Amino acid sequence: MMSQPSRSSIECPAPDWFKVPTGNERIWIGLALCWCMVMSLMMPYWHFKGKQNSSGESYSVKPADFTKRTEKFILANTGAESLLEEGLAPIVPAPPGDVYLIAKQYFWFPILKLRAGEVYRLHISSVDFQHGFSLQPINMNFQVVPGFDHVLTITPQAPGTYPIVCNEFCGIGHQNMVGKIIVE
Ligand code: CUA
Repeated sequence: MMSQPSRSSIECPAPDWFKVPTGNERIWIGLALCWCMVMSLMMPYWHFKGKQNSSGESYSVKPADFTKRTEKFILANTGAESLLEEGLAPIVPAPPGDVYLIAKQYFWFPILKLRAGEVYRLHISSVDFQHGFSLQPINMNFQVVPGFDHVLTITPQAPGTYPIVCNEFCGIGHQNMVGKIIVE
């Protein structure tokens, strides 16, 4: 029996299926291939030159321990235990040094007030699920994973109030998970 000219998708293609691309098809394949190469090379290039990478400094930490460190940090910089409960007054740490930020369903804690031009080591950790630290409007983004103390060395540039939003879906209150960093 003769084989049929059209075959279903579960059969092998005809042995002569391959037609060498010509004309415009050839040009488009060439362009796509070149662009693939450019995009592939951009990844390592931006890794070293893009200035958007964190230092990659992180340590294992238990959520309870990170909470304790943050509380200690807050007490050291306010001396008022009532603020801990309210959690509303900004913490004004003396630069340079370590500052702490907790990500938790559904808030960022505490509010930090930092000074422009000073260097801080910002420790961020989640005490429950994965969250996304997204500092607006400068669009600085960082994944916050529970169990890790992520340390970002930062130098605030310009005074202002910078909202922190969560950009990793973390539950039904995700869209309400906001915080802020004040720079003066
Ligand atoms: Cu935290 Cu979304």
